[in-house]
Amino acid sequence: MIRDKGCGEIRESDIGSHISLAGWVFRRRDHGGLIFVDLRDRSGIVQVVFSPDVSSEAHKLAHDLRGEFVISVSGEVRRRPEGTENPALPTGMVEIYANNLKVLNEAMPLPFPMEEAAEASESLRFKYRYLDLRRPEMQQNLIIRHKTAKVIRDYLDEQGFLEIETPMLTKSTPEGARDYLVPSRLNPGHFFALPQSPQLFKQILMVSGMDRYFQIVKCFRDEDLRADRQPEFTQIDMEMSFAEKKDVFSIIETMLKIVFKDILNIELDLPFKRLSFKESMERFGNDKPDLRFGMELQEMADLAQNGSFKVFLDIIESGGRVKAINGKGMAGLSRKEIDMLTDEAKSFGAKGLAWIKVKNGFESPIAKFFTDEILKQMAQRLEAEEGDLMLFVADKENVVYNVLGRMRLELGKRLNLIQPGFKFVWIEDFPLLEWDDDEKRFAAMHHPFTSPFDEDIEKIFSLNIPESLTPNSKLSSIKAKAYDIVLNGYEIGGGSIRIHKKDVQKKMFEILGISDDEANMKFGFLLEALDYGAPPHGGIALGFDRLVMVMVGANSIRDVVAFPKTQKAVCLLSGAPSIVEPKQIKELHIKLDV
Ligand code: AMO
Ligand code: AMP
Repeated sequence: MIRDKGCGEIRESDIGSHISLAGWVFRRRDHGGLIFVDLRDRSGIVQVVFSPDVSSEAHKLAHDLRGEFVISVSGEVRRRPEGTENPALPTGMVEIYANNLKVLNEAMPLPFPMEEAAEASESLRFKYRYLDLRRPEMQQNLIIRHKTAKVIRDYLDEQGFLEIETPMLTKSTPEGARDYLVPSRLNPGHFFALPQSPQLFKQILMVSGMDRYFQIVKCFRDEDLRADRQPEFTQIDMEMSFAEKKDVFSIIETMLKIVFKDILNIELDLPFKRLSFKESMERFGNDKPDLRFGMELQEMADLAQNGSFKVFLDIIESGGRVKAINGKGMAGLSRKEIDMLTDEAKSFGAKGLAWIKVKNGFESPIAKFFTDEILKQMAQRLEAEEGDLMLFVADKENVVYNVLGRMRLELGKRLNLIQPGFKFVWIEDFPLLEWDDDEKRFAAMHHPFTSPFDEDIEKIFSLNIPESLTPNSKLSSIKAKAYDIVLNGYEIGGGSIRIHKKDVQKKMFEILGISDDEANMKFGFLLEALDYGAPPHGGIALGFDRLVMVMVGANSIRDVVAFPKTQKAVCLLSGAPSIVEPKQIKELHIKLDV
């Protein structure tokens, strides 16, 4: 046997026993007479001592050990001499006096020192991912990821969900991103799409009478990458028959409660808070609000209306909005610092950033446009006190939301307002459609299989279709039975109650400007299935990587994915994507144009 135990598992109860261990040399300190090696494996670190008095042979060998050599040692577990204990380590009370050392494998000098790996550039960390993953922090992330998946599987199994695999070589699923395509050798000119989600198949499984489905599943989306987006990522995907929104909410809330209790020993309060899409936009400027701090957006148009600041008046006149946030304690900012803040607002799309300091009264280039009474009301609404800085944006509604929403997050971070902890919130009552100004048509806000509110279905059927292809309030006011779940400002999941009637689904495609032919070609199999006794159904998918990222406190999902891709969708470890043999391309009946 190479080892008896994990390095991190040795305790005082082992003192006196003779034990074999194996692992990597983490640190080596040569104190002349004694050589100390911190030996590391996944379970932790233990101190091994090589003394010429115990084994001159092992001591001699230990001279040549370098970082990340793989060794096995055996020896006696001893109590560390008084004053040399390390309470920060679980094994800090003991050390192993080695009488035997075997080098199982050597290691080249490392591209980055192991102890500073966290600070190494991401490109080095990704290229040598196996070294990066040796870091205890990264191992912990993957252990938590594994345990979370297990708790979720066990829970969903108990709740009667079946884990059923769906195809990877499939047809396009419209989740709003570009597809990854796979050419079919046997069917020249034809392509599979890798699934953006198992959406269509899980609905078909409901038509198949499977009742409750789940899958921890890879999804693929060719979109611009960010800290919380990878081209391939994992969903906890689920679907339930005869279910309403409250059933989906209750399954997810209980599941997350168990996950947080079992994995992090944190008690979540149920039910989670709920906000309508509209309220979330009004108060936080986006539909994934971080509720760990206040600094909410406040309405200012009604007050600004009574002043004479032309910028505000013109924008209100043209149907725009004026809102503000309170920069707590920021009245001390210099003109230059405020200019920098203004530039930041402009980089988010604002035309300007109006400000009023609450400082011995009100100090601002625009104060002269308002009576003292209005200024007081503004301050009151923002709960701005002496020393605060009121920041205003006036613009089209979506610009106001976006700019102030982002300023709120930026300032929340800068002012250290973000409280520790986990704040969940459901966002509901989404609009069914959103106007796509580039494509000049409506797009599904969630996806085209999401059911409108019951009371809106009639409205949809009363529509005359050409009318639906222009931006109009009739369509904008239709609400969807869709919901997102948000944790600490991240959208960690989204789902909906689906359309289960074919006529409604067809009408939906019509509104989206998808012709019968196109609908049949792309989703014919789903449309047909809806004709053969489809039960009412609904579901949700959680972004598993994002959930684990927030649980472990990482800043990027790349830290909870074993082999992530870079911003440019490249795997630096394997070198994918790569060019292939001309023969392979030819077999696929493809000509390259690069
Ligand atoms: P949606 O598109 O909202 O819904 O995706 C569900 C969740 O998956 C996560 N996610 C991502 N995580 C990492 N990288 C990405 N590129 C990425 N894209 C999405 C998010 C998101 O909330 N079929 C529907 C679900 C349903 O209706 O049941 C769907 O895929 O956390
Ligand atoms: P101006 O009248 O352009 O000199 O602007 C006076 C102040 O109003 C400056 O602080 C500008 O940054 C700010 N401002 C200009 N346009 C807007 C706007 N659309 N919303 C908020 N503040 C603005």
